Amino acid sequence: MARPLSEEQLLPLLRTLADGGWHSGEALAREAGITRAGLSKRLQKLMQWGLEIETQPGRGCHLAHPLELLDADLIRGALPQPLQGKLGVRVLAGTDSTNTRLLDAATADDPQALLAEHQTAGRGRHGRSWHSPFGTNLYLSLAWTFPQWPAALTALPLATGVATADALEELRLPDLRLKWPNDLWCGTSKLGGILIEQRGESGGACRVVVGLGLNVAMRSATTAHIGQPWTTLTEQLRAATSRSVPSRNGLAGRILGHWVAMLERFTREGFAPFEPRWRALDLLRNRAVTLALPEGEVAGIARGVDETGALLLDAGETRRRILSGEVTLRVSPQ
Ligand code: BTN
Repeated sequence: MARPLSEEQLLPLLRTLADGGWHSGEALAREAGITRAGLSKRLQKLMQWGLEIETQPGRGCHLAHPLELLDADLIRGALPQPLQGKLGVRVLAGTDSTNTRLLDAATADDPQALLAEHQTAGRGRHGRSWHSPFGTNLYLSLAWTFPQWPAALTALPLATGVATADALEELRLPDLRLKWPNDLWCGTSKLGGILIEQRGESGGACRVVVGLGLNVAMRSATTAHIGQPWTTLTEQLRAATSRSVPSRNGLAGRILGHWVAMLERFTREGFAPFEPRWRALDLLRNRAVTLALPEGEVAGIARGVDETGALLLDAGETRRRILSGEVTLRVSPQ
């Protein structure tokens, strides 16, 4: 049986095609030192990854949408200076889930970041899958070991949302908000989601993997099954300012820089220093919401969060504390 094609065999071809220009099959095969049949197998594999490759007799082939490939050196270069050399950054063309890979990675290498161009089993909250087409979004995870279990660990998703929003601030997105517990929204649509997974360690240390899926330039052709309104940075920037999206490598470096600064502060001070910013970005505050809880739907008015990150819900006469991970929220029409 033929051996599966490796990333090392496919990435040079992809780097050549990334500019979106036309390339003759003959030149591509020559460059790779393979036959035309071999080239066609590699092109088919790239198409299985979800890339749109068009071919035309006499012109060769090209990518329907040019790509800026992720590059670990460029991401490292976009980190704040003191972090360069301290934070491990790796990029994979494809993997099952960047969170899974880091949960399985050696803790001795923490802090370490992993990005992938696409995921075959990207995970969202509540066991949902996270749509992860090739080369158009960010799928980014960071493994971090706290020396001791932080008191306010349940609020970490909220602090991560704040740090991510701060990293995006200079894009001046219209109406960027955080939807409890850890969604990034622009207006009425979801721009990204955060998934934090943790493993306790012996001796009281606590390891978390912080994962972000951020829609950058995803096209609707691939998204029919996403069950909620979604948007992308490209769409938001084009609509608001006609500006184009900054480099994914630059964005990833900036987000990682904000995450590490947040994690260091969270270790020392917990959620308290992030709460005012959370309040300013809170999409739900003082709005009517419906929560799907294990006992059924509960309607009420969202009143912000407490120091543990629990949502405060006024339902009739009672104020309830709703903990992360057990509910879905639907914003009632205003
Ligand atoms: C959600 O909104 O449900 C959270 C989505 C989190 C998706 C990211 S993509 C990178 C990381 N790897 C995963 O498998 N999931 C997270």
